[in-house]
Order: sequence, then structure tokens, then C-alpha cells
Amino acid sequence: MNQSVAHEANPMPRKRVLSGIQPSGDVQLGNYLGAIKGWVDRQDEKDNFFCIVDLHAITVPQDPNELRHQTRSLAAILFAAGLDPSKSNVFIQSHVPPHAEACWLLNCVTPIGWLERMTQFKDKARNENRERMSTGLLDYPVLMAGDILLYSADEVPVGEDQKQHVELARDIAERFNRLFGDTFVVPEPIIPEAGARVMGLDDPSRKMSKSFADIRGHAVRLIDEPKEIERTINRAVTDSYNEIRFSDDPERSGVNNLLGIYKVITGKTTEEVENDFASARGYGDLKRSVGEVIISELAPIRARYVQLMDDIAELDRLLSLGAAQAIAVSGPKVDEMKERIGLVLQGGEL
Ligand code: TYM
Repeated sequence: MNQSVAHEANPMPRKRVLSGIQPSGDVQLGNYLGAIKGWVDRQDEKDNFFCIVDLHAITVPQDPNELRHQTRSLAAILFAAGLDPSKSNVFIQSHVPPHAEACWLLNCVTPIGWLERMTQFKDKARNENRERMSTGLLDYPVLMAGDILLYSADEVPVGEDQKQHVELARDIAERFNRLFGDTFVVPEPIIPEAGARVMGLDDPSRKMSKSFADIRGHAVRLIDEPKEIERTINRAVTDSYNEIRFSDDPERSGVNNLLGIYKVITGKTTEEVENDFASARGYGDLKRSVGEVIISELAPIRARYVQLMDDIAELDRLLSLGAAQAIAVSGPKVDEMKERIGLVLQGGEL
């Protein structure tokens, strides 16, 4: 039988995907390679929800005007990177009230000990004065669990640093299901094989991060000009071995990181990547090639970004469409949560 006919006769339901990204700081190459690129590449096969998590961003102080700008700028980057509004619902978290509501409801079934054990919280808490740190920072993963569970997401594509948070969302879902009956799909974290942990170019012992994207030489930002990208890659920390191959020796993590970036962008195998550099004369050649593949990947994104930022009304319209779809799914789900818990729904039961 013709395959497409067979497919039509028995259509496989698409897996529901939800992921999120914070509008804090400039989107950098790690966000793109660890998350956004995968969202774009697989949007045809999935049922997609992507959330710009402004409520997560305000767990640390933000300048209001800057936050407003960053939120729209991030939306433009996501569309420019290839998320297609006819295939992916892209929306702003605060436009969809069920997110904040779900967070409260889930707070009441999440033990504090689970949150205090989160690596990201412990790292932040170590450097912050507890008298100044917001409660939101501790509660951050519960808001994130709500983002995921409201959509009955099967899959949550994220970089490696978010894996623990997705695992916590699984634990919260299982606990709620045990307490109140089967309510939530238990989601799977989807971590890319390559690109899941892009390291800082200035210090390959720490992960590339939006929070440090302003530090000279730390990150390639998605909307950097080609000249800027070239300069940042040229400045990248390497080592004195002068050997261009993958390695898990921490002393060689700079070169490993550059090769990893080249590998994800070109889609080549480890062997093919090492072959490409078999006759290279040194790290200068490596940096030139890595810079070139990054520039050819990002230049079209930058061009579309500039166009999208030129028409904020259109951008806002696309985000409203995304929010309407998001409310259509998350509204009934939050009502189901309330009903299971024993809250009286306005206007009667479901
Ligand atoms: P955020 O905004 O820090 O990062 C967005 C995505 O980028 C990935 N990422 C990286 N991947 C590889 N290498 C890096 N150096 C790197 N830096 C960041 C992150 O893993 C993430 O996938 N808490 C989330 C946002 C969030 C969310 C959600 C995610 C809120 N609700 C629900 C999934 C589902 C965060 O702060 O991501």
C-alpha cells in the first residue's frame, strides 16, 4: 500500500512538545545549539508550544523597559531562527494566566526540600545574600513544572542544565497523580546528543550563559554582526597541545568546545569533523573554520530578526495568536487541577 495512504488511514498522533526560554540577557549560541535549533528542526513532526518565560525572568531584578524590549526581541529571534507560527505556538508566559495559577496549586504539593536540593538554586544561593534573594528563585522550578504539565507535554527539549528541572516536573506530576488521581502526563526531557552544553569561549570550564553574554569574549550572541563573531571566536581560549581532535581532558575543553560547535552546526560525525582538520596548520585554521560556519548559520537569522523588529505590531499579533492557542489548552487543564483538589469552579463543575 502507498505509504502516505496508510499514514492517512491511521494517523499517528503527534507528540506534544513544550519548552521555554527566559527573556533575560542576550540569546547566545548555547541557547541556539542546545535548544532552539532542535525546536525548529523538529517542528514539522510535533505539536509545538514554546513559551517566553517572563515570569521566570523576574525571579531576579530586571529593569522594566529592558525586560519589555528583551521579551519582544526574544520573540523576534525565535521566529527569525525558523519557528513558524503556523506550526509552533510561540507565546509570552504572562499572557496566559493559568501558568501563575498552576504554580500556586503545585506549590501546595511540592515539598520545600525538593526545591532546596536543585543544583541551580544551590549555585545561585551560594553567591547571593538570603536576605535579598527572592522567594521566586526557590520556587522557579515549580513555575516551570506548571509550564510543562499544563500542556500535557510528552517531550521537553532542553539543554543539559535544565534536565534536573524537568526531572522535578516529573516528580511533581507523579505526586499530584498519586494524591488526586491521574491528571498529568509525565514528561520526558529531550537532551540533544551534541550541543547540550556549550561552554564559555573565554572560560571553557563554565557553561556559556546569557547572564555573562555582555562579558567580552564569553559568548557569541545570536544577533552579533559577522565581524563581532569573528573577533569572539579568534579570542577563544584554547591550549598549548596544538592538536585538533575531540578530547574529554579538562585542559583541552576549549578546543573540544570549538569542535563541538562545528559538529552541531555542520551535522557531521566526530570522524568527519576530525578529518576536516587533519591538514589544518594550527588553532588559527580551526578558529577560522568555526567562525565561518557560525556566521553562515547566524547571518540569515540576524537579517530576518532586523525585519521582524521593524514591525512590532505584527510581532505582537503573532504572540497574541500563540497566547490564544496556549489558553485554549491550559485553561481547561488548570480547571481540572482545581476540581481534583476540591476548589469550587466559578459557574459550576466541569
Ligand atoms: P534558559 O532561558 O536559561 O535557556 C533556554 C534553553 O537554552 C539551553 N541552554 C544551553 N544549552 C546548551 N549550552 C548552553 N551553554 C546553554 N545555555 C542554555 C537551556 O538548557 C534551555 O533549554 N528554566 C528554563 C526556561 C523554562 C523552561 C520551561 C524550559 C521555563 N519553563 C519549561 C523548558 C520547559 C531556562 O531558564 O532556560
